[in-house]
Amino acid sequence: MQPASFVEFAPFRLDLVNQELWRGADRLPIRGKPFAVLAYLATHPARLVPHEELVRAVWPDTHVGEGLLRGYVRELRTLLGDDAAAPRFIETVARRGYRFVAETRAGVGGTSACAPPVEGPPPDLLGRDAEMEALARRLAAAKAGTRQLVLVTGEAGIGKTTLVDAFLAAHARGLRIARGQCVEHFGPGEAYLPLLEAVGRLGCLPECRDVVAILTRHAPTWLVELPALVGDADLEAARRRVHGTTRDRMLREFAEAIEVLTAAHPLLLVLEDLQWSDHATCDVLSALARRRGPARLLVIGTYRPADLAAAGHPLAAIVRDLRARGQCEELALPPLGAEDVAAYLAARLPEKPLADLGRAVHEATEGNPLFVVNLVDYWMSRGLLSEPTPGGARPAALEAGVPDTLRQLIERQLDRLDPDARRALDAASVVGSEFSSAAVAAALEEAVEPVDERCEALAERGLFLRARGLDAPAPGAVAGRYEFLHALYRQVLYRRLSATRRARLHQRVGLWLERAYGELAHEHAAELALHFEEGCDPPRAVQHLYAAARNAMRRHAYHEATASVERALALLGKVGDGPERRERELALRMALGTCLLTTRGYAAPDVQRAYARAHELSRHMDGGPELAFALAGLFRFFFVRAEFKLASELAEQVVRIADAFAAAGERSLLPVAHSICGLPLLATADLAGARACFERALAVYDFEEHRGLALLHGDDPALTALAFHAVGLWIAGYPARALARIREAQALAERLAVPYSLAFAQVFAAWIHVRRGEAARAEACADAVAPLAAEHGFHFLLAEAGVFRGWALAAQGRVEAGIAQIREALAAHRAGGVVMGRPSHLALLAEACLFAREPEEGLAALQEALEAAAGTGERSYEAELHRLKGELLYQLAERGGRRSALEVEARACLEQALGVARRQGARSLELRAALGLARHAGATRGEAPAARRLLRDVVASFDEGFDTADLVAARALLDAAPSQSE
Ligand SMILES: Nc1ncnc2c1ncn2[C@@H]1O[C@H](COP(=O)(O)OP(=O)(O)OP(=O)(O)O)[C@@H](O)[C@H]1O
Ligand SMILES: [Mg+2]
Repeated sequence: MQPASFVEFAPFRLDLVNQELWRGADRLPIRGKPFAVLAYLATHPARLVPHEELVRAVWPDTHVGEGLLRGYVRELRTLLGDDAAAPRFIETVARRGYRFVAETRAGVGGTSACAPPVEGPPPDLLGRDAEMEALARRLAAAKAGTRQLVLVTGEAGIGKTTLVDAFLAAHARGLRIARGQCVEHFGPGEAYLPLLEAVGRLGCLPECRDVVAILTRHAPTWLVELPALVGDADLEAARRRVHGTTRDRMLREFAEAIEVLTAAHPLLLVLEDLQWSDHATCDVLSALARRRGPARLLVIGTYRPADLAAAGHPLAAIVRDLRARGQCEELALPPLGAEDVAAYLAARLPEKPLADLGRAVHEATEGNPLFVVNLVDYWMSRGLLSEPTPGGARPAALEAGVPDTLRQLIERQLDRLDPDARRALDAASVVGSEFSSAAVAAALEEAVEPVDERCEALAERGLFLRARGLDAPAPGAVAGRYEFLHALYRQVLYRRLSATRRARLHQRVGLWLERAYGELAHEHAAELALHFEEGCDPPRAVQHLYAAARNAMRRHAYHEATASVERALALLGKVGDGPERRERELALRMALGTCLLTTRGYAAPDVQRAYARAHELSRHMDGGPELAFALAGLFRFFFVRAEFKLASELAEQVVRIADAFAAAGERSLLPVAHSICGLPLLATADLAGARACFERALAVYDFEEHRGLALLHGDDPALTALAFHAVGLWIAGYPARALARIREAQALAERLAVPYSLAFAQVFAAWIHVRRGEAARAEACADAVAPLAAEHGFHFLLAEAGVFRGWALAAQGRVEAGIAQIREALAAHRAGGVVMGRPSHLALLAEACLFAREPEEGLAALQEALEAAAGTGERSYEAELHRLKGELLYQLAERGGRRSALEVEARACLEQALGVARRQGARSLELRAALGLARHAGATRGEAPAARRLLRDVVASFDEGFDTADLVAARALLDAAPSQSE
């Protein structure tokens, strides 16, 4: 189809060919960029055009803030007489983008003005034929389906970017190009920055709409980091899918999405200045290069090897390794040759005889192109090349001398600037490689206009800066955007600043940016943190470092998150003591705990240190919901480590906070507080107390109100309450009610649709089926956990499920496999520092040994279980430990030897089990003990009738669950014996 040449929306007509806006017979004055914005919107009517898409369409290779866009839209509204509050043409969709709401009619013919501007002519490339050919070969191989990674390396200014640009210009046709830039300023603080930029830009291109579909399907963990690409509903759906994901999953998803994407179109991914990349990006690069599957992918990365080595950057080792395996090629750019330099001079100075000059310039610059360009500029600016050179004489330029290094040369150029321009550049070097003149003005505490004029003048003369369009930092304000022509200029300027000046500028820039970003500040946390850190403003730096850590955690980039948290903790030392500081430290320690726990497991000493300090901080704190959730997280840590006393104290503190909020009418924390209160009570065998807590939690839970908690804090209070309530009910002698509760838990997990919740419900369902003696069902539930746990890295739940699955296998006759599986799961728990549940897990191992007729092994497990129970106070399964010990001793006795002594001990164990179960009100365990006594009564003379009476009484106390294994066995035993003899 031919593109439209005009669009009409009464009373206006947009001429796309001549780039004009008409109202009837009047041509309205409209500038180029506002025209492009309007043309894009009007040619994509009646749908949300996200900011990102609009920006990419209008400024295809420039980074432009949303502020600028807002400025243009305001300008357009004035022109069209539109009203933002009741839009007839351009509707603002809050925080997302714009929608063109007027009826439009497009006419055909001519070309469309909203097509992305054509790239400028490629730079005249000197030398580099071999490198261009090498890249072309790699591209051909990539197009044929073999993935390629090429690293273009060399010192600053050697021409890496120029080579890549020239290559792209020559080969762009029919190729998808995604480009991402690492930013020196943020360094490794911002996980996946260049990749997100590259994919985000690609996804915004109208001809690349499939990118979003592919990300949705294959890489939802990436999609949630690119909110501009999708609508709210899709974003929410993706968020739900990615809960509890891992860094491995992000890597895998990226690699897979790239493979799918490149199946249809070859892709060229350019990542610039990797010496400043975050570590997570390096991992992706390495994963991309190592995978074996076909991908029509060429990755070109650029970096400065010396900077990499100096910083101890992980990329150096990755590249060494990839090179050794033949999985990447390095193109180390050599300096330009003398003849290249001569050719450059000939092009710049066509009128001059240059023989001497060319040689001298090559010698002085050692063939570094940036140096060459600067030197010529410098001489020209001083008029040293305009003098005709009489035959044989040295040119005036050479007489004036050549600075030793590029830096010195740049410094000399800077020294020649007028002081106001210098001051503007100084401040700009603090803002970043691209900046708004408004930020510079704020840093200098001057008005925007004169500062902008100074930047504009420099850009016009091609000195240090280039213009990058407009910025609208605040309603009604317009400023220019500029970019340093080369990173080295910014570096030289920045390093020349005195420490105090630099700090002062950073602080002011930070404050200005904080205001300019407004409620989106958290998305720029790494940048803001840097300004306040360098600006000697620890409280603000800490606040933004924490936000940066949260961003990294969301991306599962725990290395980056840990680094941010540790920096924040170090800075916290400079913040005066007080409740606010302590709350901040608590949040940081909790975040550190999560990061370390994820990368090292519960058992690592660092994890324990982080939580111990968090606990100490939290002890005397009263605070808001955030504190309550931090305490609940802390609770979970100590609970899993079976530190029930500490856990109880924390739970009580959460209750106090929740109650205080409830008294003020805010009841949302109550279910969280009550559900966690029940857990240590259950573990320590206070069945009634635990039950009361769970019922209270369930009574105040409201699905719509609380459903978000599962995603936010990894824990839904009703699910926790239902699952543990079911366990308590079974122990207390209600096997049917336990089953009903666990079914409710499963149904709730389905509704929540959060992977961790689903796996959690299945683990507890397996628990209940194990206790009800339903081995096959238990196995099925445990099996359902495995894929979820493997995908999302739920190590704890996987080990839990392993214990139940092992028991189920043993109960179904596969004793060896069952025992092996339980042992493996217990080892995983031990390695992960999980202590809670150990007595009951070991009891299941002992029971599997009983099935296998391996009493010694079983008794050893029980010994450990009893010690664990005594050590931690986890007593809810204590009766079962004594019972199993009795059963195993009977089994041992059957083998002969000290038979009667063993039988006496065995019986004593069963009686002890009975006593403990009665004291605790654990009727299901009481039933098992009574059943054991009745079974073995025949072995000891004259005790059978009493044992059966006892069993009958216990059975009579049950009013449900008659289909469960224990009650079926008890009734069979009683039915088989004549009751009159008792
Ligand atoms: N082969 C070349 N032919 C002509 N000019 C070149 C060439 N290579 C580089 N230049 C000039 O040198 C300048 C610096 O080069 P470029 O920005 O590509 O360096 P770089 O290696 O990417 O540096 P950095 O490591 O700082 O990113 C360019 O702006 C260009 O003017
Ligand atoms: Mg470069």
